[in-house]
Amino acid sequence: MAEELTINKGTREEQYLDLIPQIAALVDNEPDLIANLANICAALKQQFEWLWIGFYLVKDDELVLGPFQGPIACTRIKKGRGVCGKAWEEQKTLIVADVNAFPGHIACSSLSKSEIVVPIIQDGQVKGVLDVDHSNYETFDKTDELFLTEILRLIRL
Ligand code: SME
Repeated sequence: MAEELTINKGTREEQYLDLIPQIAALVDNEPDLIANLANICAALKQQFEWLWIGFYLVKDDELVLGPFQGPIACTRIKKGRGVCGKAWEEQKTLIVADVNAFPGHIACSSLSKSEIVVPIIQDGQVKGVLDVDHSNYETFDKTDELFLTEILRLIRL
């Protein structure tokens, strides 16, 4: 395992392309899920200037906060509630350019302005979500969806 992350300052696509093999090396041969989710959050937070990045995992029909980087966050989200609960319910990635315009958005931090939530779908079921918040509006797009989905393929929930 590499001891240090190499941070690329190119385009966002170049940043992901450089980071993903490093994340793959971090989680390769490590069977512990929490360790891997924690390192994925840390690597993405080091690479990108995001306010918050973290996992919510489905437990007893709720999303429960998992490993994350950033300010403290709400711990439980019901299906259909907020951006995370909607992404779970609809089983699809949600990209929110302005969180204030998203009905039912759960504001864990007043600093969050835009958000992307990518569901982790395995064996046909949503097992959790990856949630990313930014302190600027209109920051996430299909590039993030594509590469974050690729990163989620590296883990098994
Ligand atoms: N904003 C999310 C809640 C989680 S926090 O952003 C960390 C939502 O509306 O589901």
